[in-house]
Amino acid sequence: MAQETTALDALIRNVPKAELHVHVEGTLEPELMFEFARRNSLELPYRTVEVARAAYSFGSLRSFLDLYYQGAAVLQEERDFYELTRAYLERANAQRVRHVELFFDPQIHTARGVPFEVVARGIGRALEDAQAEWGMTSRLIMCFLRDLGPEAALATLEEALPHAQELVAVGLDSAEVGHPPDDFEEVFRRARERGLLAVAHAGEEGPPEFVRQALDQLRARRIDHGVRALEDPDLVERLVRERVPLTVCPLSNVKLGVVSSLRAHPLRRMLELGLMVTVNSDDPAYFGGYITENFLAAQRALDLTREQILTLARNSYAAAFVDEGRRRQLEDELQAVASEF
Ligand code: ADE
Ligand code: ZN
Repeated sequence: MAQETTALDALIRNVPKAELHVHVEGTLEPELMFEFARRNSLELPYRTVEVARAAYSFGSLRSFLDLYYQGAAVLQEERDFYELTRAYLERANAQRVRHVELFFDPQIHTARGVPFEVVARGIGRALEDAQAEWGMTSRLIMCFLRDLGPEAALATLEEALPHAQELVAVGLDSAEVGHPPDDFEEVFRRARERGLLAVAHAGEEGPPEFVRQALDQLRARRIDHGVRALEDPDLVERLVRERVPLTVCPLSNVKLGVVSSLRAHPLRRMLELGLMVTVNSDDPAYFGGYITENFLAAQRALDLTREQILTLARNSYAAAFVDEGRRRQLEDELQAVASEF
């Protein structure tokens, strides 16, 4: 058993990964938060890094989001966005992430007077460097904060359109309950008309109906989280039939109380039902682990098999917004690793 676990650990650590659900603002480790606060002459509500970390205990999505927005307020200059993104990418590269689709929440920053361009340029330069240095490919996804409503989302889309070529998709995040995807039909339609794809957080705290709305009204190509879809067998059948990817984030779901424990997480059941699930980190600085830690913890808690680990990796390539050539490269890299571990 111990030996089997060790072999699976090695496979998990080495398998090439595509990370499809990670918020750049959620990668802000307390150490960097303190550095940016000092550099930008801002006060933090924590005295030390340890005190900040100890405050990361959430009973719900809302209580997490309040801290997440507060933390992101230290990001002011292009250099801050560059260094934040760079720090995430270095960790991701060390964990064999070969392709990343990064979310960012421009409204958190523009509401504080930080121009959209400053945010997009800082993140974008870090992504370019990662491709040049490590061959890590990437896409950028701009999310609308659903609790700010559809008018604010439309204004944000207008601001973003000059940068549309730097984005692959728009997404929908923040507090789900009370903010159904339906409300955002128009802004998503406009984004799609400008060539952007759509994804949406749905079925995290919200009901299965929100997953349906994300598919039908927003034309979402992937559902972020989607774990509550399991409450509706007809919806599950549709998600399987249409091969809709669900970007699942196990440690996040535990920390935010979406599931009571990792052992109670439906990831394995979702795989067994034939759903196209992937494993992701969501907000790793806040939830206690990056993508590899999510894989390792889920494997242990749910006794995932070698085949299931490989399926999760393959699903991430299949669900990525990349061309067939890049998908094949990722598959080839996986084959090489699978024959070694
Ligand atoms: N923004 C950052 N993380 C999020 C999550 N897990 N759900 C909704 N919005 C988010
Ligand atoms: Zn998320």
